[in-house]
Amino acid sequence: MVKTVVIVMAMKAEAQPFIDHLDLQKDADRFHKGLRAECYSGTYKGETKVHLVLNGQCHKYGVDIVGTVGGAVTTFAAVQALSPDLVINAGTCGGFRALGGEVGSIYLCTSFLNHDRRIAIPGFDAFGVGELNTFDLNPELLAQVGAQSGVVSTGNSLDVTKEDEGYIKKHKATCKDMEGAAVAYMCDQLSVPMFALKSVTDIVDGEHPTPEEFLKNLGTAAKSLQQALPKVLSFIAEKPFQA
Ligand code: ADE
Repeated sequence: MVKTVVIVMAMKAEAQPFIDHLDLQKDADRFHKGLRAECYSGTYKGETKVHLVLNGQCHKYGVDIVGTVGGAVTTFAAVQALSPDLVINAGTCGGFRALGGEVGSIYLCTSFLNHDRRIAIPGFDAFGVGELNTFDLNPELLAQVGAQSGVVSTGNSLDVTKEDEGYIKKHKATCKDMEGAAVAYMCDQLSVPMFALKSVTDIVDGEHPTPEEFLKNLGTAAKSLQQALPKVLSFIAEKPFQA
């Protein structure tokens, strides 16, 4: 059973309802002082140590550090400082109507790939896509959370190009995000079990412009994460999360 869990999130707005719900306290000086990453800590039901880690705000542009650089660096710093037995990458994602995705759908994911790392040189091509399966999820966890099992495809842009779409469709990705594959890659390298919990804010193959749809639904998606995360914590505190 999990004793220490690190939840990696990119945007403060996604995390705030959960920080408030569990009354997590800001834990200064956990990381290298130059890093913008923030750590909020507490316990779930007095047993499981919970550290919610944010990438923080960019020192130059003053916005949340979204994307793969922040995701990987924060994950590394958090694993080094906090030695978790599980990492969860929680956050919002784009969903796909063609695969049954709707705004508010919740996915638990253990399969990851990158859709914007095209390197047409033998060997590097597979590294670029970086397909990764972390483990088989216990189906009871999906049932307890009311989530579907999904595949995360990660890239550093909010929009989607024709080339990106090709990779996303080929791998039947249900969730398009900007951090998942980077967090999964670091955890794989550091041998820490990891999965993602994603809430859909916008429909990639729908008719609305993504930035508008994302901003409109961010609050609702953050609320669904706040409701889903305690169900995940309750399960992993008591039962094996792997099949
Ligand atoms: N996060 C939320 N929606 C997204 C999208 N459409 N693409 C990438 N990241 C997202």
